Amino acid sequence: MKLALFASGNGSNVQAIIDAIAFGKLQAEISCLVTDKPQAYVLERVKHLNIPVLIAPLKDFENRDEWELAIRDFVQSFQVDYLVLAGFMRILGPILLNAYPNRILNIHPSYLPNFPGAHGIRDAYQAGVSETGVTVFIVDEGIDTGQILEQVKIKIDPQWTLEELEKKIHQVEHQLYPKVLQQISKKDRSLK
Ligand code: GRF
Repeated sequence: MKLALFASGNGSNVQAIIDAIAFGKLQAEISCLVTDKPQAYVLERVKHLNIPVLIAPLKDFENRDEWELAIRDFVQSFQVDYLVLAGFMRILGPILLNAYPNRILNIHPSYLPNFPGAHGIRDAYQAGVSETGVTVFIVDEGIDTGQILEQVKIKIDPQWTLEELEKKIHQVEHQLYPKVLQQISKKDRSLK
């Protein structure tokens, strides 16, 4: 299973995927990485992999379609099976969605459909709910609305600070994303 990873920031989920492959827990190959942020720390994390990287800030392109076409052509050149979004802070449009139907995955730091959007952890914390979670889903044209593949619930200890909740969520994410990818990898191999 060949993956194109997409990230805009720290890349701790990308790291979890790299580690899961290295430890033999995930049978997959990282074919390339796409980022929209030239300064993203994720670029440091993938350096040693020597994989092709596309740095594509949206503002460098005439319009959104041109940006998506450049990304589509890049990932298609490596014949990847899935696009794996991991903290990629841009919305994908029809060009990529149609090129990879049901093959774009994302992870979100809440128990969807609760708290979609860019601030899932903070929004749940501020709402004072007793539980939140992590969701892996298939990307569609909406914002965090696609088909849910797996979810984990996390009870919020009322004593926790926002930072403590963030830490807990990230720990769960780092287990869940490689696990779901491995399930997909297994299923895809059984179909071949
Ligand atoms: C994660 O919380 C993920 O759920 C969300 O963005 C964050 C990315 O974190 N989509 P990192 O860059 O993987 O550390």
